[in-house]
Amino acid sequence: SDALKIGIAGLGTVGASLARILQDRSEKLAVTCGRPITITAVSARDRTRDRGIDLTDITWYDDPIELAAKADIDVFVELMGGAGDPADNAVRAALSRGLHVVTANKALLARHGVALAALAEEKGALLNFEAAVAGGIPVIKALRESLTGNTVSRIYGIMNGTCNYILTKMEKEGLSFADCLKEAQRLGYAEADPAFDIEGNDTAHKLAILTTLAFGSEIAADDIYLEGITNISIEDIHAAADLGYRIKLLGVAQRTESGIEQRVHPTMVPLDSVIAQVDGVTNAVAIEADILGELLMVGPGAGGNATASAVLGDIADIAKSRPGAQQVPALGRPAAKLAPYQRAQ
Ligand code: NDP
Ligand code: HSE
Repeated sequence: SDALKIGIAGLGTVGASLARILQDRSEKLAVTCGRPITITAVSARDRTRDRGIDLTDITWYDDPIELAAKADIDVFVELMGGAGDPADNAVRAALSRGLHVVTANKALLARHGVALAALAEEKGALLNFEAAVAGGIPVIKALRESLTGNTVSRIYGIMNGTCNYILTKMEKEGLSFADCLKEAQRLGYAEADPAFDIEGNDTAHKLAILTTLAFGSEIAADDIYLEGITNISIEDIHAAADLGYRIKLLGVAQRTESGIEQRVHPTMVPLDSVIAQVDGVTNAVAIEADILGELLMVGPGAGGNATASAVLGDIADIAKSRPGAQQVPALGRPAAKLAPYQRAQ
């Protein structure tokens, strides 16, 4: 049939949200994308767990690499996490077959992104990863598409929802670091190993990806100057506030005379700046570009639905990537009813 068949490896916070959205909105998506999107295969560790997904007509694989290598699919969606196996070999297996791949896995991309992109190119496949940086914020699209032709001089921002959530809660609710982290984990914001969040590695992975896209340099997450938020106390936060600042974990990459400088560390930002007002799980990414000027994007940086929204956008891009397909639902077949503006009396 005309349907785009997808296989999802990983049905945790993001994968289960994605599967539920695909099932709940299948009719609307078929119209928007010009063709149905069907989940035909899934994989996770625990087959018995109820994830709120209808598994009828979906093939379950215990081994995600087998799914990637053998399932009857057009797109492999990797939502397991981790830079090593099984994510790495599963993505390679899918690309080797010429399947398109969508992933939210910044740890994997920061380590193997260049090799995976080269494999995708060789096989004529797409490798989409909007959700890997700043959750639901379309920063990858901005860099890969909208800013084409610009020269970027600096890119910086709040790129880890867990850390921003912890810093915000500590300041505004007086909760301990440990309690804030527990809450971020409960809400599905944190990595499987939250040390990646609080020690700054996750921000470094994201920054490394942005640096490559913005400046055309190598992906080199291990070379980034790194300082997380584990040493930030409530006293530090209050002392910063007394001086007119708020502490934020920032990732910064900028062009210097000797090359591209990259760093991740807690930073005192003036209380009246936009970045200082970015609270909770919200992320913000600023891009300074020569033709456009400064772009600031603010939005949900983590969580099942926000992240699934970006993954879904990547899948929809693949579904629509046929000549003429993008125009049809949006312009050729209007679906929503217009209503006149009713001014309040
Ligand atoms: P979870 O830990 O919630 O889910 C991971 C899923 O992968 C689980 O379903 C797990 O199975 C499955 N899995 C893990 N190892 C294996 C394996 N060896 N074989 C088969 N299945 C496996 O992670 P998240 O959903 O939070 O994150 C997924 C990816 O998205 C990660 O790369 C993460 O960095 C990224 N991401 C997450 C965001 C978030 O807000 N959570 C935001 C942006 C990106 P089981 O359920 O049976 O244990
Ligand atoms: N653990 C990550 C965060 C998930 O808190 O930002 C989104 O990439």
